[in-house]
Amino acid sequence: MRKKIVAGNWKMNLTYSEGLSLAEEVCKILNEKGIQDLEVLPEVLFFPPYLHLSQVVSICKEQEGVSAGAQNCHTEAKGAYTGEISAPMIKSTGATHVLVGHSERRAYFSEDDQMLAGKVKAALENDLTPVFCCGEKLPEREKEIHFEVVSSQVENALFWLDNNSFNKVVIAYEPVWAIGTGVTASPEQAQEMHAFIRKLIKEKYGEETAENTTILYGGSCNPKNAQSLFSQKDVDGGLIGGASLKAMDFIGIIKSF
Ligand code: 13P
Repeated sequence: MRKKIVAGNWKMNLTYSEGLSLAEEVCKILNEKGIQDLEVLPEVLFFPPYLHLSQVVSICKEQEGVSAGAQNCHTEAKGAYTGEISAPMIKSTGATHVLVGHSERRAYFSEDDQMLAGKVKAALENDLTPVFCCGEKLPEREKEIHFEVVSSQVENALFWLDNNSFNKVVIAYEPVWAIGTGVTASPEQAQEMHAFIRKLIKEKYGEETAENTTILYGGSCNPKNAQSLFSQKDVDGGLIGGASLKAMDFIGIIKSF
C-alpha cells in the first residue's frame, strides 16, 4: 500500500540540544492535540544530522508512526573513509531510512548517478529505506528538458533494482529551483511530474508496483501550500526543509491531508 509521509530534512541546522528539543516538541504535539484522530495521519520522519540521530531515534520510539533516518550514507560498509558514515552504522542507531541523492549532495559533493546507485544498494542491504531524491535545475526546466533529466536520474540510480527491492524505495521529487527559494512548484507542476515518474515505474515494474510507490514532493513546501500539493492524486506527502525546523509549521504540514 502506498504510504502518506511527511519528512523533515533538517540539513545542517540545529545544535544537538536544539535538534532534540524540536523532535521532542513535535512528538509531544502529535500526542496531545488530538492529531491521532485525523482522518489521514501520515507517517512522520525526521532526517537530523548524523550527530543527533541515535538520540532522535530514542525520542521517536516513544511515539507511534514517527521514525528517523540519516541525510546520507557511504557506499561502503566500512574502511578508510575519514569523516564518512556507513549504512550499517546508521542501521545500528535504530534509524529506518536514509536520504539518497539530495540535490545539495549532487551539487556540492559531486554525487553522480553511479554513486547514488551504490548508496541505494548499501541502504537496501542494511534494511534501510532509501528516500531517493530527484529533480531538475531551473535552466533544465526553462529548456523544457525536465522530464528527460528526472527520468535519467530515476532510471540510472534505481531501475537496476529487481521488483522486490524497488518496492522498498521511496522517491522524493524536489525541483532544485524550488528548494529554499520560496518558489514552490504549482500543484499542477508537481502532479505532472509525479504522474510522469509513476508512469516510468509502471513501464518498468508494472501497475501494482507503480501504484504502491510513495512519491513525495519537496521544495518550499509550507503549512499554507501543503494542502493544495498533497491533494494531488500522485503526491503522497512531502520532504520538508526550512518549514521542518519549527514544530508548529511542521505540524501544520502533517495536518494537511
Ligand atoms: P525547503 O523546504 O527548505 O525548500 O527544502 C526542501 C528540501 O530540500 C528538502 O529535502
